Amino acid sequence: MSEMVTFRTDGAIAEAVIDNPPVNATSAGVRQGLADAIERFAGDPALKVMIVRCEGRTFVAGADIKEFGKPMVGPNLTKVIEMLDALEKPTVAAVHGTTLGGGFELALACHYRIADPATRFGFPEVKLGLLPGAGGTQRTPRLAGLATTIDLVTTGKQINARKALDSGLVDRIAEGDLAEAARAYAKELAESNAPARSAGTLPMPEDDPALFEESRKTIARKMRGQPAPLLALEAIRLGYDMPFAQALEREYAMCLEAISSPESKALRHVFAAERQVAKVPGLAADIEPRKVDKAGVIGLGAMGRGITMAIAGAGIPVTAVALDEEHLAKAMGAIEKMWGSSVKKGRMSQEQMDRQMALITRSTNPADLADVDLVIEAVTEDIDIKKVVFAELGKVTRPGAILASNTSFLNIDTLADASGRAEDVCGMHFFNPAHVMRLLENVRTARTAPDVVATIMNFGKRIKKLPVLSGVCDGFIVNRMLSKRSREGFFLVEEGASPEAIDKVVLSFGFPMGPFALGDLAGLDVQAAARKSRAATASARELRADFVEQMVAAGNLGQKTGSGWYVYDENRKASHNPETDKMIAAHAEKHGLKLREIGEEEILQRLIYAMVNEGAKILGEGVAPRPHEIDVAMINGLGFPATTGGPMFWADQIGLDKVLATIEKFRAEQGDEYWTPAPLLVERAKEAKGFYA
Ligand code: CAA
Repeated sequence: MSEMVTFRTDGAIAEAVIDNPPVNATSAGVRQGLADAIERFAGDPALKVMIVRCEGRTFVAGADIKEFGKPMVGPNLTKVIEMLDALEKPTVAAVHGTTLGGGFELALACHYRIADPATRFGFPEVKLGLLPGAGGTQRTPRLAGLATTIDLVTTGKQINARKALDSGLVDRIAEGDLAEAARAYAKELAESNAPARSAGTLPMPEDDPALFEESRKTIARKMRGQPAPLLALEAIRLGYDMPFAQALEREYAMCLEAISSPESKALRHVFAAERQVAKVPGLAADIEPRKVDKAGVIGLGAMGRGITMAIAGAGIPVTAVALDEEHLAKAMGAIEKMWGSSVKKGRMSQEQMDRQMALITRSTNPADLADVDLVIEAVTEDIDIKKVVFAELGKVTRPGAILASNTSFLNIDTLADASGRAEDVCGMHFFNPAHVMRLLENVRTARTAPDVVATIMNFGKRIKKLPVLSGVCDGFIVNRMLSKRSREGFFLVEEGASPEAIDKVVLSFGFPMGPFALGDLAGLDVQAAARKSRAATASARELRADFVEQMVAAGNLGQKTGSGWYVYDENRKASHNPETDKMIAAHAEKHGLKLREIGEEEILQRLIYAMVNEGAKILGEGVAPRPHEIDVAMINGLGFPATTGGPMFWADQIGLDKVLATIEKFRAEQGDEYWTPAPLLVERAKEAKGFYA
């Protein structure tokens, strides 16, 4: 028997207990152990019912992702599941924690299911570019009907035990200890001579072609560029086209095909990278984070409010300090309104909202931050104002309290100097809206104490963010890379590409939005202010491409005024703006620019390679410790398509020699200033390596 599965018996009841930390994935040892247990159970006439359950924090959370792409050792999961399903004596899955993917399929192949009340069920395969490959698309509809199956299988959404019970996916919710409850259930089944009960013997629910058609449309709209959800939907249909056993074979073949797709490879890379970034290189494992029982936020504009909501939303007390009573009232009113709307939509209970509101201590006096362990500063993006705030925070907070700035591009070293205690100072850069966006760029200066780094990484996770560590530089990872895409976007317009053509290319690549539509949404005045703040370091050509300033001067600020790069109707639906054409033509004439046809490939390469090259600089300078940080930050902060694996992974797939050759071509056409290749890119390309090599 494998060490990962223990087989026990007690009278007529057998138990196969899986123990494969951290998440009881169906690694080779688990599959072999289960196969052995099934054979022993089947071969012993004294045994009447077998329980399958897990030790540790969860029932099986899926196939072992680390085994993907490697040769299969021992029986595959489909085989084990087939053996379970075919047993002539009943089996009971006793599930808890996150019963996901192959784990959910394992449970569905057992004949009866009992769940701990806190169990969550789901098929996250689509998030890895896959589809369930061990019967999930065939057993689920037979037990729970089409609508629930489509929702589960195509979105990766999870459901709770109550919903699983109501939809027929589990038979019972356990009261008290799960193992005890499972044994009692198994005894009951044994005593009543309950039959083996394979979900495969049930009929498919009545076909609903309209529901399938609607689901196809929803997937095309909401999961653009992802092949897996559509494949998963088509796999459900196999149940209507062929017998159960054949449908299982076909489903498995489809899953294998998906595993070798570039999208799945990229998404699996993202899954691993998102976990990797939590482990900061060079930070000794025994460094204890400082305790943070209470936090503070100073500056309650849109960012400060969002940060306050994220902290209180995670159950942590927070002192929120505004400039004056008027700003405080406005900020608290806005927070109440946002949470109130979640309550109205049924996403949050009134009690939860009341609890969260009660965690916020309101203040207009920075001295009220004397008892907090961590302050996040989110005042106006002005270095002189921030310096004054940090000098004050250095005085009013207790020694050892962490002082973090939410600045997007100001120098945190300057703030560290102002505070008088540089070792406690760092950046915590949230993305707007801060209570929603997952990414958190934590910034360490050369003087930030290691335990401060450990604390902000840990705190970020506590407030349900995805913290990524960056060093100090202008714009950190995301905004620094984005600024290069924006630069190329404006240059392309000056050269003859229309904003619409550029947006289309970016959208087809898989971004949720093109840069010009995004500019209109964020507000061209906001973009103009950002350009102004960087004017001192901008080149003459960047300053010349002053389209945003021209539109702002004409009162066209984007969506909020109904006109920007595009024009908007009352429902904010965008259409072509003839004024934009006129502006571009006049700009070209004024500066003697010759407009030319620019193909989609050049548009894409100019925009994305500019970011890749900057990413290589960020990596080479050590601002990002690894390419993982860049990929995770760009996917979660800017919407870089996850199916590409992020800019650095994507460039590796193309081949850095090819990327470099194109960058050299642009350098010859556009000049050294913008297209000098990053030394790291040149080095890796020469060595025929990737950024991840
Ligand atoms: N295989 C291997 N390792 C896994 C794993 C899996 N399926 N799921 C999680 N892990 C590892 C993580 O890499 C992490 O390892 P480190 O500690 O070394 O970083 C560790 O388990 C803990 O994971 P998290 O940090 O994510 O812990 P969490 O408590 O926040 O979340 C979880 C737990 C909900 C299970 C989450 O890890 C998760 O969603 N896992 C993926 C589940 C999944 O996608 N399953 C489907 C796999 S595909 C499949 O099953 C289809 C098939 O049959 C072919």
